[in-house]
Amino acid sequence: MILITGASGNVGREVLKQIAQTGAHVRAAFQPSSKAAAPAGVEIARVDYNQPDTLKFALKDVDRVFLVGPPTAELPPLERKAVDAIAQSEVRHLVKLSAMGGRQATFPRQHAESEDYILSSGVPYTFLRPNGFMQNIVNYNAPTISTQNGFYGTEGDGRVSQIDIRDVAAVAVKVLTEDGHAGKAYTLTGPQALNNTEIAQMLSEVLGREIRFVNLPAADFKQALLSAGIPEWNADALLDLQRLYREGKAAAVTRDVEEILGRKPTSFSRFLQEYREAFQAGGQAAI
Ligand SMILES: NC(=O)c1ccc[n+]([C@@H]2O[C@H](COP(=O)([O-])OP(=O)(O)OC[C@H]3O[C@@H](n4cnc5c(N)ncnc54)[C@H](OP(=O)(O)O)[C@@H]3O)[C@@H](O)[C@H]2O)c1
Repeated sequence: MILITGASGNVGREVLKQIAQTGAHVRAAFQPSSKAAAPAGVEIARVDYNQPDTLKFALKDVDRVFLVGPPTAELPPLERKAVDAIAQSEVRHLVKLSAMGGRQATFPRQHAESEDYILSSGVPYTFLRPNGFMQNIVNYNAPTISTQNGFYGTEGDGRVSQIDIRDVAAVAVKVLTEDGHAGKAYTLTGPQALNNTEIAQMLSEVLGREIRFVNLPAADFKQALLSAGIPEWNADALLDLQRLYREGKAAAVTRDVEEILGRKPTSFSRFLQEYREAFQAGGQAAI
């Protein structure tokens, strides 16, 4: 049995969708308060990492786990609690959704700390370290793209080798259903590194109208995030990540996705064509 945590989230939902098609025995973990929606044949469990008994119950008969933590200040303590429960179970392979970037910015640093904790737990692991998700432009920027023909940030002309969440999920499914991945860390990127001006140009071509990227001073962008209701910790972490992007430190392109999937990762231009409806007025969230 394979347990998919974070099943309501951007990545977990897509992993669940893809792994359900393999015929593997799968259980999906949703928080108690979250609406649970799983493909036919998938068991549902209620898990809150803050309530270790819920995870203990969900881990019954499970030998592999896909571990997802939320992108909040609470990620390290929540994942430590999850790892403690997993270490006391029969699980023999823990696949952790991590992040590219080492300890160079807040979000990836949190994941690096979690990786360290997993290493010290002795549970066999695989770390998946994706770069920024292509779907972020849909989930965070589509509203201003559809209404103002523009999107905002502080990345300057820094290039990022963003990856499609569907490719992250395809790698996760392979790693969860094949042998030979224990003890490995994979850095997952798209096929090329692009800056936001180049992405705006691609969007303009796909949508048939001019889209602009507007680079803002960090203080102005932070104020806009706070005004939109983003908690201050998250705003600061996002600005720190965009600082990494601006410095060109998230531009590496790796071959890990192609080596695992036997095909090239999705290009940004194909992604934009497939999600073009999301940038029209009334568009939907990415996945
Ligand atoms: N966005 C990027 O570009 C990017 C790049 C690299 C890595 N990552 C990492 O990828 C991970 C997942 O991202 P995502 O976009 O899929 O996040 P997400 O959509 O926010 O999903 C997080 C999941 O964790 C669940 N969760 C929250 N608190 C929990 C708790 N106490 N106990 C159990 N489950 C809990 C959430 O459940 P509810 O829905 O019920 O809240 C949700 O299913 C994050 O750790 C992020 O740092 C993101």
